[in-house]
Amino acid sequence: MDEQRDEPPTAPDPGQPGEGAHPSVPDGGPTPPGPAGDAPSSPVGAPGPTSSRVSVVAEQPPRPAPPEGASEQEYAFHSYRVYPSGRPDAVEFIDVYKSFGRANILRGLNMGLPEGMVSMIIGPSGTGKSVCIKHMVGLLYPDRGDILVHGQSVPNMPDDELFEMRKKFGLLFQDGALFGSMNLYDNVAFPLRQHTEKGEDEVEDIVMRRLGEVGLASAREKMPNELSGGMRKRAGFARALVLEPDILLFDEPDSGLDPVRTALLGELIIEIHRDMMDEAKAKGKEHLPTFAVVTHDIMSARRVADYINVLWMGRIVEAGPAEDMLNSDNPFIRQFLAGESQGPLAMD
Ligand SMILES: Nc1ncnc2c1ncn2[C@@H]1O[C@H](COP(=O)(O)OP(=O)(O)OP(=O)(O)O)[C@@H](O)[C@H]1O
Ligand SMILES: [Mg+2]
Repeated sequence: MDEQRDEPPTAPDPGQPGEGAHPSVPDGGPTPPGPAGDAPSSPVGAPGPTSSRVSVVAEQPPRPAPPEGASEQEYAFHSYRVYPSGRPDAVEFIDVYKSFGRANILRGLNMGLPEGMVSMIIGPSGTGKSVCIKHMVGLLYPDRGDILVHGQSVPNMPDDELFEMRKKFGLLFQDGALFGSMNLYDNVAFPLRQHTEKGEDEVEDIVMRRLGEVGLASAREKMPNELSGGMRKRAGFARALVLEPDILLFDEPDSGLDPVRTALLGELIIEIHRDMMDEAKAKGKEHLPTFAVVTHDIMSARRVADYINVLWMGRIVEAGPAEDMLNSDNPFIRQFLAGESQGPLAMD
């Protein structure tokens, strides 16, 4: 929120092989484990007797080298496996690096948020989840790499396009980030009054519909400081919805809530996503609604997620539809998604 836009990104280095082109080609080009130099494009049905099977399988990209200064062992649990979602990605991180001073936060991040799904980005505290969100909306710029939203490069957007692009997003911050001087109704109406030409009657219809959805219709006159933490989050949710965003980002929607409120909020997220999917299909919208929920609450992730990205040490350990992830045989993923203290992940 109080973030300053960073300096503009350095232009992609044209001399770098594979730079920004495809997530499967990490910087520096490590030696792939398979036979080198094999063209990955030989057609499946080609009768070439000498062609290797590698080219046919070409599903998982070669294992990337660890980031500079890190050992292969530190990334031993990063299988980099991505179980297919069957959908295009609404948001895509391609080899993204971001450091603050000496702290290397994103270290060659490749991550996708499939369109029309509720995705979770989970990872231990301080791994850079909020930093990811800020990259998606152009509040932070990568040192290297690219972030695509509906196929368009965010770091390369001129300011006017960036402002337009941000209208695709609804953002829900940890505390709801309501304006303290406005009552609930005016808070939720704010984006409509700011960004649309709608008359007050229409604004009221929309605001009351959204407040109703989050169970706050009767609290419309209340000031933010009269609301509980859970109510503030729901109010923030209502406000994030009024402009009918294609992509809704929730940063720790569950922080500070008791388990029951957390579960209810999770249900609300699922319900509203379902309604928005129906609406998007009925209206024939170009993009299906994509939700990305950032959390370190594993229980929420298990309940709410269609798709799970596990972020650790600046890269995705493994990602995929929730069922695949919950059945993963990766010990790190198993430990992490089960919330167990025994396993490779230790407190440090
Ligand atoms: N603007 C900034 N300047 C300097 N350091 C920053 C900045 N933003 C984030 N960081 C650092 O980057 C790291 C990742 O921060 P981030 O807020 O993304 O973590 P997180 O995964 O969201 O953690 P949590 O689950 O606790 O919210 C932290 O060490 C943080 O101090
Ligand atoms: Mg955070």
